[in-house]
Amino acid sequence: MEIPDSLITKYNLPVPRYTSYPPANYFHSNFTADDYKEAIINSNGEWPENISLYIHIPFCTKLCYFCGCNSHLTRDQNKIQQYIDAVRKEILMVKMLLDPSRKVSQVHWGGGTPNSIPADMIRGIMELIKNNFSFIADPEIAIECHPALLDESYTDQLIAAGFNRFSLGIQDFRKDVLDNVNRDSPKIPVEDIVSQIKSYDGTGVNLDFIYGLPFQTKKTFSDTIEKAVQISPDRLVTFSYAHVPWIKKAQKILESKGLPEAKEKLGMFKAGYKILTENGYTPIGLDHYAKNEDELSVALKNRKLHRNFQGYCTRETTGQVYAFGATGISQLESVYAQNEKDPYDYTDLIDKGTFATGKGYRVNRKEKIIRQVITEIMCNEYVSLEETGDIFNLPVEEIKNILGFSEKAFEELADDGLLTIKNGVIFKVTETGRFFIRNIASEFDPQLKGGTGRFSRSL
Ligand SMILES: C[S@@+](CC[C@H](N)C(=O)[O-])C[C@H]1O[C@@H](n2cnc3c(N)ncnc32)[C@H](O)[C@@H]1O
Ligand code: SF4
Repeated sequence: MEIPDSLITKYNLPVPRYTSYPPANYFHSNFTADDYKEAIINSNGEWPENISLYIHIPFCTKLCYFCGCNSHLTRDQNKIQQYIDAVRKEILMVKMLLDPSRKVSQVHWGGGTPNSIPADMIRGIMELIKNNFSFIADPEIAIECHPALLDESYTDQLIAAGFNRFSLGIQDFRKDVLDNVNRDSPKIPVEDIVSQIKSYDGTGVNLDFIYGLPFQTKKTFSDTIEKAVQISPDRLVTFSYAHVPWIKKAQKILESKGLPEAKEKLGMFKAGYKILTENGYTPIGLDHYAKNEDELSVALKNRKLHRNFQGYCTRETTGQVYAFGATGISQLESVYAQNEKDPYDYTDLIDKGTFATGKGYRVNRKEKIIRQVITEIMCNEYVSLEETGDIFNLPVEEIKNILGFSEKAFEELADDGLLTIKNGVIFKVTETGRFFIRNIASEFDPQLKGGTGRFSRSL
């Protein structure tokens, strides 16, 4: 499929990634630890009933220049131990406030690099969780790992701790690309790590890649994705490199090394898309892929895909997210709350027995309606404003008012071939439109028609 240059020029604008609505730049510091405590108690009476736990390990042993994550360089074992003690305490503080009949459907460990800390610390926290919560049948217990820090014994210890989903940050298979961004290459072949994980029943593997880094071309990235197909992960992500040097200073270094131009970068994305869709993978959202038989692909076909800060999930596994650790974002039905960013400030606050909330946001009813529409279009590539009206018990005209709906803007998207519109209320994203899904979502966002503000570009 060819995407005309004119569309790329027109739509390559700064727009939010919409991993949440309202986006994280709305969070404010008037939201306090006491507000978070109250929100946890209130969340017991809200939907979804399931509990999703997120544990953030901010530590890394080396800084990758492209990194846009909340990471913190340290090898100081004392500091790490104090942080882990704080996370354990925070888990118990939240547990005290939760209705004990609610069940855990997801546990996700993210970072930074969770596997940069000793495996027995991870195992200890998993035991604490198992001893204090009950679980749904077949919960998702996931961890993000840097493959350079994984060996056979560490992987076995993670399996023993109960992990059944592993996400490996490959980024690129080429050593020159990784060296150039200050990232260590895996010590054992990725195919061996994946086969070790897959040798255990009920495990799943995701591989993360980034396109748009120095030294990458359409050809090299195609080779990387071809190799990924041979390894055959259940899921795979091709992240568009988000260049935000005003937030992440180290990214400036990449400018001098030569970042690929927008057209070459789009070529990488399209090459990956072609290889993956021709080899049994279903595209999910903008940058995720899952094997055609994977539960995420099946959920997409049935328009039952959902998304929270833990990533894509089926409606069965989705839960309100309770986050632990520095920068962790809790995503309750009516509140977002983010912990202090500095790991040591976080540790001090939890030591004192208070929540470490740095900022947050209360989501009002109008925003819940907008969120519903944006989530549907981002996840299921389809939204019916009639169905939204039914959920919120409002006429379609009222939903359109809340969205600040502009007939003209949507006609333009349809004329550009990005979506189809039925009866003025059902919106279906076309294959070309998938590439511009963030732009389409932004037209449903009354604060941000078409894209303004300081976000990474949509392509
Ligand atoms: C928390 S990070 C990585 C976990 C682990 N520390 C690692 O590096 O493998 C999750 C993923 O975000 C992606 N990522 C990091 N920085 C990014 C950026 N600036 N733009 C796009 N994706 C990025 C990478 O693909 C990475 O695997
Ligand atoms: S990409 Fe991963 S390993 Fe590299 S600095 Fe960021 S969080 Fe750490």
